[in-house]
Amino acid sequence: MPTFTLTDSQQQALLAAARQARGNAYAPYSNYPVGAAVLDEQGRIHAGCNVENAAYPEGLCAEAAALAAMVLAGGRQARAVLVVGSGDAGNWTTPCGGCRQKLREFGTPDLLVLSANELALGPRHTLSQLLPESFGPGHIKVRQGAGQHTP
Ligand code: THU
Repeated sequence: MPTFTLTDSQQQALLAAARQARGNAYAPYSNYPVGAAVLDEQGRIHAGCNVENAAYPEGLCAEAAALAAMVLAGGRQARAVLVVGSGDAGNWTTPCGGCRQKLREFGTPDLLVLSANELALGPRHTLSQLLPESFGPGHIKVRQGAGQHTP
């Protein structure tokens, strides 16, 4: 499978957008602000931040917010995502399990997932490293094609 090549300028743009988004995070409960930026199939960047809630489970992750912004703008494929969290070296922020699945909806297994903080870039992973053997849209299409969907 061909791996998408992220250019230096795309990486810098993602980093800047995610850091700026993190600056607007609403995280009064965890005090763990996160910003995320997604590069779509048209080369556009969409950012999001975490938005917490006094009813804790209603909080929104930065990656989910960035994906929602991408979809709103008409983007349908994520090529790379960069997450700026509050972890430091050795404790980098990677997407939570739920966000890995949300990324799966709009990304191929080679989707690049980069971690960073305010000071440095951390490791990069592919989505398939973070979410192996995943369930995705193709599974649903097979079921519908087989006529097994009951309205
Ligand atoms: N969080 C994100 O927004 N993205 C991640 O990748 C990890 C966790 C948020 C959720 C919550 O608002 C806070 O960070 C602490 O878990």
